[in-house]
Order: sequence, then structure tokens, then C-alpha cells
Amino acid sequence: MFEIEQKVIDESRQGEAYQGIEEASQSSDKRFYIESYGCQMNFSDSEIIASILQTSGFGSTKDVDQASLILLNTCSIREKAEQTIRKRLTEFKKIKKNNPALLIGVLGCMAERLKSKLLEEEKLVDIVVGPDAYRTLPQLIEEAETGTKAVNVLLSREETYADISPVRINSNGITAFVSIMRGCNNMCAFCVVPFTRGRERSRDNSSILDECRDLYERGFKEVTLLGQNVDSYYWVDPITNHAVDFAMLLEQVAYISPQLRVRFSTSHPKDITESVLQTMKKYENICKYIHLPLQSGSTRILQLMNRTYTREWYLAKVKRIREVMPECAISSDIIAGFCTEDDNDHLDTLDVMRNSKYEYSYMFMYSERPGTLAAKRYQDDVPMELKQKRLEEIVALQNHLSLESNKLDLGKKFEVLIEGNSKKSNQHWMGRNSQNKVVVFEKNGTTLKPGDYVTVDVYDCTQGTLIGNIVS
Ligand code: 5AD
Ligand code: SF4
Repeated sequence: MFEIEQKVIDESRQGEAYQGIEEASQSSDKRFYIESYGCQMNFSDSEIIASILQTSGFGSTKDVDQASLILLNTCSIREKAEQTIRKRLTEFKKIKKNNPALLIGVLGCMAERLKSKLLEEEKLVDIVVGPDAYRTLPQLIEEAETGTKAVNVLLSREETYADISPVRINSNGITAFVSIMRGCNNMCAFCVVPFTRGRERSRDNSSILDECRDLYERGFKEVTLLGQNVDSYYWVDPITNHAVDFAMLLEQVAYISPQLRVRFSTSHPKDITESVLQTMKKYENICKYIHLPLQSGSTRILQLMNRTYTREWYLAKVKRIREVMPECAISSDIIAGFCTEDDNDHLDTLDVMRNSKYEYSYMFMYSERPGTLAAKRYQDDVPMELKQKRLEEIVALQNHLSLESNKLDLGKKFEVLIEGNSKKSNQHWMGRNSQNKVVVFEKNGTTLKPGDYVTVDVYDCTQGTLIGNIVS
């Protein structure tokens, strides 16, 4: 899963980011305020939730004090994420003291994991809704309004919210996420997702294409197809019996317009296929960027993690990607200090990083999650200080690799999609190239605007940014 900007020790990526909703409808008395934590999938879910609530007569607000309903779309991936959210809930409980009619709801992965504990034992919230039960939110709110604690955490084998048209939250009007599947059937030993998000299911092919076309017609220039494991997307049309796999879906979306960029996330190294690589190569508007989480570079640890590949197999996959698309950027997720990891395992991880030359990585210390295979089978036996030390080494290496990769871009020209002003100066635009690298360049009095494509000549860089000039 990738992020707007490269982060280094990115514990925050999946746990602390939050946002209010952009003002949409202000007409209703009943207003909801939503904060989202966790992965892009969760942010995408919040857009579905916003749509369900607006259809049932709720307005939205960015100001928590204006809200009659506060929702937190939560993440359980690491303990730290849950701690942050609990702290936030305690703050909201204080607001509720002065406004007893205020309803507070927990949605998403923590709702699924903790179920009624948050309602009953801790009395922190009024409503608890798991990731497959968002359609029932309006009824649950009605129940909660009568003073009944409302909970629905049923997981589904079918729910994909295919027919719901997401309300774009905090949208820049240029890039959008499109969910193509839900849940996960991989049983990585460290991961809570299969328990919180349930079985994998793919979304109706035509509804994905309709959503992407609609976005393009509304002026969006980039879609990111989202799923926990996009490469196992598989949809059989019930009428024609025609089957669509991920490579075919990518091609269909790329075909909408050469002006619409297509990205996707996340790929499991075991599932990304040659035909996906060939499709990427064939279409210029499919971005040359793959997020290919390694997790560990040690075959022994990978086996304990149940990742189903070896270090050699992973390295061969990276080699193949670079053979097919030499310009393709690759990023990774890495966990430091998984159960029984020793110094040699850690050195193996550093070694695979060096070999893979990642453009970015998201790096974490292992955090045991209740109910996972690792929690049941293994001891979380790497001391905290050692996890910390290994993480620091991993981060230092990634910083070096990112800078080296950016230096190789000096003197190159890239097509950049302008997303907005650069953070540091409104005299500069910020955009991304196909490789997902942030590119900053002077506006130079041109009439360009966000959403335009422009060719930029790179003359300088930092570890996280390419700096260039517009090519006239
Ligand atoms: N501890 C630390 N990191 C984890 N991740 C998933 N579960 C855990 C855990 N228990 C990381 C993995 C995954 C990313 C989304 O979060 O690297 O790819
Ligand atoms: Fe967090 Fe995973 Fe749930 Fe996303 S799917 S919100 S990363 S636990």
C-alpha cells in the first residue's frame, strides 16, 4: 500500500493518519463527522460510508463540534494504531459529557476485532459496525438514538458495496481510489486482516469500469485500484460466464483513456503474474510502479510468516519485473523483529533490500496481534531494543537506497501529473511521475493547473523528492 509521500519509519502510515470529511451537504440537521485511520482501503471505505449516510439524510461536517454523530473508521494492524484510536475515543467521550445526544460510532477493523467490548466493558461508544455491515449503519443509528447500544459486526462472503457510488472525501479532484475487492485469503502469520476483513471477494467487473469511467468524465486523471491482494482479482460474469482476471481488469481500465493513469495496490509477490507485467508494459498509462511487500529477507522467517515464497523466489520476481520494465519502481513493506528473528535473518533482510534497490519502503517493528497465527503459535521473543535497532538499520539502508535511486534520475525527463502546490511554496507545483516519485518544479508563470500533464527535466533531488524544470 503506498502513500502520498515517502515516509521512513512509517508507523503512522497505518495507524495515525486521520481526516475529517470535506463539506458536502450542509442541508440536514443531522451531521456526521468522520475520521479515518489505517490503510487506503479504510479511507476508501469511508467514502462508501459517507455515501450511505448522505443517502439516508445525513449532512457532513468537518467541524466535530457541529456533529450529531462522530464516526471513527479504525485500524487494528498494529497495537500502536489501536492505542491512538482509543485515546481519541476517550477525547470524544469527554465531548459527549456536555452533549449527551451526541452519538459515537466505531467502524472498521477495531469494531470487528473488539466487537461489543467497546460498547459494554468500556462504554466508549454507542455504535459498533464491522467492515461488511456499513449498509446497516442508518438502522443502527436509529437504534442508538433510542438509547439502545447498536452493533453489527457480521462478516459477509459477498458484500463488495459494488452499487454504492463513493462520496469523494478530501478529494483533490485528480486522483481517486477504487476498491476492486475486499478481504484476504492469505494467512500471513503476523496479520490480523483476514480476521477483521474476512474472506476475499472480487467486485463486479462492470461496476468497477463504470466507476472509473465516471471519475474520468468528472475530470479525474488517476485511479488506484485497491485490494488487499489485487492479483487474485477474479470475476465471472453471471450472464456470459466470461471470466476477468487482474491483468484483464487492468487492461480494461487502461483502455478508458490514455489520459487516465492507472495504479494498483497491493500485490502479493506470490500472485503477481507475467501477464500483469506484460499488460503494464503495453499501456503507457499504467504506472510503472509496483508495491511488492517483502516482509523479511530470510527464507526461514518467511516460512514462519507463511508468506509461501523464499528469498530466491522473491529476488527472481524482482529481476523479472526489471527485465520486463527497466524503468519500473518497486516499493516494499518490511517487518523488523518477527518471532525468533536472529542477526543472520536480519542481515538477509538488508541483503534482499540492497539487491531489490527499493525506491521506497514502509518499515515496521513486529507487533503481536491477538488471534493471529503468530500469536497462537510463536513467542514474540525479540526484545524491543533489538527490534528498534534492526528497524533503524533497515530505515538507514532504505534512506540510502531512495537517495541512490533518485540520483539515477538526474538529467532524465518525466511526464508529471500536477496534483497541486508544493508544500513549501505556492510558486512551485507538486506532482508525481509514473514511478510514483514526488516531483517539484517552478511554475514559471505558465498557465498550467492541477490535473495537467507536463514534462519535467530533473536537475536535483533529495531522498524523497525530484526537483526539476518544465520542459518548454
Ligand atoms: N506487526 C507489524 N507490522 C505488520 N504489518 C501487518 N501486520 C503487522 C504486525 N502484526 C505490516 C506488513 C503489511 C503492512 C500493511 O503492515 O508489513 O504489509
Ligand atoms: Fe488496518 Fe489492515 Fe484494517 Fe487496513 S485492513 S484498516 S491496514 S487492519
